[in-house]
Amino acid sequence: TSSNESIESTLTSHIVKAGRLTKLVNGCRDVLVLHHQGQLHAMDTRCYHSGGPLQSGDIEEFNGMLCIVCPWHKYKITLAGGEGLYQAVDDPTARPLRTHWRSKGVKQRIHKVTEVNGDLYVTLNESSEAIESDVYQTESYRIGLFKT
Ligand code: FES
Repeated sequence: TSSNESIESTLTSHIVKAGRLTKLVNGCRDVLVLHHQGQLHAMDTRCYHSGGPLQSGDIEEFNGMLCIVCPWHKYKITLAGGEGLYQAVDDPTARPLRTHWRSKGVKQRIHKVTEVNGDLYVTLNESSEAIESDVYQTESYRIGLFKT
């Protein structure tokens, strides 16, 4: 089976207006598609930390990187690479404390989304390397057994 799935063209104008949509791709994975500042992004819908609904998160910039902020515990995930950001303190004895945004590495699986003649195509990232968000993309989470 192909890993490409067309999201109907009527949804293209919808996402441009609404900025985001979620879609079950290939019958197996909930993907969040975002349209922000003219760019399309796609990632696993549930947050790698504890399965929070990223479709309800705000988009903010940290250290020049656009992130979705999970509504549950405010984890920041870069749109471009799915990296988890955290605030690091270089010198815990310094006053005032100075913090910097650092990356924890890739935590959220990012997928590919392209637009061709008004149709959106999502290609799942099927790399075999485990990514933390995979844990929350199982059938049980999809059908809501673990909804809180
Ligand atoms: Fe997303 Fe905790 S579930 S920050």
